[in-house]
Amino acid sequence: MNSGATQAATIGVIGDVHLFWDDEDVAFFNGSGYDLLLFVGDLAAYTQIRGQRVARSLRRLRVPAMCIPGNHDGLHALQLGAEIAPRAHRLRDVFCQGQARRCRSLDRALGAVELLAYSQRRLTPAGVPLNIVVGRPHSIGGRRLACLRYLAEAYGVDSIESSIARLKSLIDACDNAPILFLSHNGPSGLGDRADSIWGCDFRRKEEDWGDHDLEEALRYANSNGRKVLATVAGHMHRKTKSGKRRPAQVEKDGVLYVNAAEVPRHRQMNGEKKRHHVKLTVTAGGVKAEDQWV
Ligand SMILES: [Fe+2]
Repeated sequence: MNSGATQAATIGVIGDVHLFWDDEDVAFFNGSGYDLLLFVGDLAAYTQIRGQRVARSLRRLRVPAMCIPGNHDGLHALQLGAEIAPRAHRLRDVFCQGQARRCRSLDRALGAVELLAYSQRRLTPAGVPLNIVVGRPHSIGGRRLACLRYLAEAYGVDSIESSIARLKSLIDACDNAPILFLSHNGPSGLGDRADSIWGCDFRRKEEDWGDHDLEEALRYANSNGRKVLATVAGHMHRKTKSGKRRPAQVEKDGVLYVNAAEVPRHRQMNGEKKRHHVKLTVTAGGVKAEDQWV
C-alpha cells in the first residue's frame, strides 16, 4: 500500500476478451501488482460454452476483479441474432427465456470474480477511496435496450427512463469519494461519426452509438457535484469496419472516457505474442490511462 501524498491505485482494464484469454494472461495479471481488475464484458464470442471456459480461467485470478456482462455474455447465438436483427422484437423476448440461468452459470464459473450489473461498490484500492458504479448489463448500444424482458425481470428495468433512474440511485448511494463507471458500452454524447469513440461503424448512416442512460447518469453525477474520474467501457471495437481507428480515450468536462476494446487482444508483434489491456492510475487528484501490450 502507498502512503501520504503519493497514494496511487493501479487498475487493469481488460477490453472485450472475445475468447482471447489464456493461462499466460492469468499468470501476468497475478504477478502484475494491480490493485483491481475491471473487465468490460464480452468474454464470449458466439457460444456460451467457450465463454464459460474463459470464465473458469478467470476464476484463477488472485487480484480482486469485477466484470460487467456484455451483449455476448449469457446470450445464445440465436438470441444475439434476434437482438441485432432490426425487426425481431417478438423473438427477442422469447429468447430471453433462460437468460437468468445462463447468467447464474457464468457467475458461478467466474468464482471470486464478481459479475456485476446495476451495482455500486465502495473500495479503497491502495488506500485510494473510490466508488465503482457498474452500469446496465448486456448493452448492445444505440437507442434500444437489449435483453429488455430479462432486464425487466432481473432488475425491474423496462425502459430507458427506468434505467436512468436505476443508475441515478446508484450514484445517490455513493459517498464523497470519486466515482469510476464500469460499463459495457460507453455513453452517448461523445461523437456521431463512425470513428468516434462510441460511434456507429456498421450502418451507412454514421451516428452516436453510445448509451443514452449512461450519458444521463453522468450528467446527473456532475450536476450533483460528484467527482467522476473516469468511465471505462468497450463494445465498439477500436478498429472500425472501414479500418479506421477510434480514439482509445477522450477527456470531456473533467471526465476521462476509456474505450478498452482492442480486438483481438492477442496479437503477433515482431514474431512475439502480445496481450492488450489498459493501465489506469488513480490518485486523489486524478486519473490517467495508458495502453499496455505485454
Ligand atoms: Fe459488445
